[in-house]
Parts: sequence; structure tokens; C-alpha cells
Amino acid sequence: MPGQTTKDFGAIRDDYAFFEAQSTEAAGDLDGYARHFADLPAAGPLRMLDFGCGPGGFTGKFLARLGVAPERLRLSLVEPADVYRQTATAALAPFTQHPIEAWPALPDDRADCFDLVVSNHALYYVPDLEGALKQIVRALARPGLFLTAIAGLDNPLVQVWVRSFALLGKPVPYHTAEDVESALNRLGVPFEKQRVGYDLAFDDSEENRLKILRFLLAEHLAELPPQAALDQLAPYSTGGRIVIATGNEQFAIRKTV
Ligand SMILES: C[S@@+](CC[C@H](N)C(=O)[O-])C[C@H]1O[C@@H](n2cnc3c(N)ncnc32)[C@H](O)[C@@H]1O
Repeated sequence: MPGQTTKDFGAIRDDYAFFEAQSTEAAGDLDGYARHFADLPAAGPLRMLDFGCGPGGFTGKFLARLGVAPERLRLSLVEPADVYRQTATAALAPFTQHPIEAWPALPDDRADCFDLVVSNHALYYVPDLEGALKQIVRALARPGLFLTAIAGLDNPLVQVWVRSFALLGKPVPYHTAEDVESALNRLGVPFEKQRVGYDLAFDDSEENRLKILRFLLAEHLAELPPQAALDQLAPYSTGGRIVIATGNEQFAIRKTV
């Protein structure tokens, strides 16, 4: 069950941590997800899967906001980066009295077994988006709720991908909100979509631009002419800061009884 990915976050974890620290993305997503919390069962076990949990920082904030008692929560994690999977399992232990299941990829035999699936900004990086969505929806119980966040082509960071891979003469290897919407439509899975906003703001220096560019482009950054890469963030430079006001989509998918 090796976890397959188009981006190895183990190698860029410091750069992703910088992005997390300098952006309000998590707060925007939490507010968006919280609008659905009233749909969840108020008592009994809550079986939750976080698909692409990263180091668990977002999951922890999500669980704190959800406020489910540790005896109710059964937590499962999917995360292909070993270092993240181990960190997240340890960090999230206080939220549940039950053993945490943690896999590099979702086992194929999971069906009708999660009341809640969250995938926060991970679907960009699955090699087979339609396959992953099908597998997650199959794993959802009845009733069940699947919440996922992903940015679309209007997001300046996604536009860095588009421009960079055009310069490299390669297709963008990552998915966007538009791809998720098309895949759900092809699968015949109904969804609700909402927009959430966030800011990314940090002191403008070459070092900091490179952190964001490495988070965005990982191993592909080295193939780009360095100045062309750095210049992509120049339009957002103001008063010694890079300031990007943007947002992403959230999809909510419900399985009903
Ligand atoms: C942008 S980070 C988001 C992490 C976390 N959900 C958060 O909100 O902080 C993307 C995560 O997706 C994970 N990922 C990449 N490929 C994946 C795959 N095929 N299945 C599940 N997760 C994957 C990465 O390893 C990384 O932890």
C-alpha cells in the first residue's frame, strides 16, 4: 500500500510550514467547514478520516473546533509522507481515546466506514483524481459527509504553476478545483461548493520568495531560470511585503440514508 503522490512534501516540509505560518488559509477553511458541523451526529462514535493530513497541524485545529469528545472520536489518517504521518499520529493522539489508524494510502477495501472525511488541500497531488474521489466516496458511511478544500485557476499561487509549467513546456502535474468539479460531475456525485478567502503575506526577500516557490513547485523549481521564478511574485510586492489576497473552493459531498 505505498502512497503515490505527485509532490513529496517530506522534502519541502519547512517551506510548507512557512506557507502555513504566513497565511490565513487554515482559518478561512475552518470557518467554511464549520458551517457543516451541525450535519454531523451529536452523539455516538464519530469515525473520521483525514485524507492527506500533512503534519497534523490543520487536523488538530479542525478537531479542536469540532469539539468531539475523545471517547467518541475514531481517527484514521492517510498521508504518503512518512515524516508527516508519524508527526500527525503523535500530535493528534490527545484528541482520541482510541488507536489512530494511519496509512500511506487508503486501503482498497474501505467501504461505508467513515462518518466524516476531510481532505484539506491534498487532492492537488493525487496521481488519479477520479480514482481517489471514487475511493473516498465509497469509504463514506450512510449518512456521511466529505469536506474538501482546493484552490482553482483564479488563485495566484495556482497561476504560478500554470506559468511555470508553461515555461518548462510541461503540463501542470497537479489538480485544481475545476478538476475536482469535473471529476465529481463525471462520477455523478452531487456536491455543494462554497468559496472561502485567505491572505498570504510575508516580508519580501529572495529567501522568502524561494520558500513559497519551493512549496509550490518542489523539484521542478530547479529547472526554471531563477530570476524568472522569483519575478512571478513581483506583482504582489508592496511596501517591502508580498501580499496576496485570494481564496479557494470547498466542496461538501453528502451520502444520505
Ligand atoms: C498542502 S499539504 C496539506 C496538508 C494538510 N491537509 C493541511 O491542511 O495542512 C498537502 C498534503 O497532501 C499530501 N498528499 C500528497 N499526495 C497525496 C495522496 N496521493 N493522497 C493523500 N495525500 C496526499 C501531502 O503529502 C501533504 O501532506
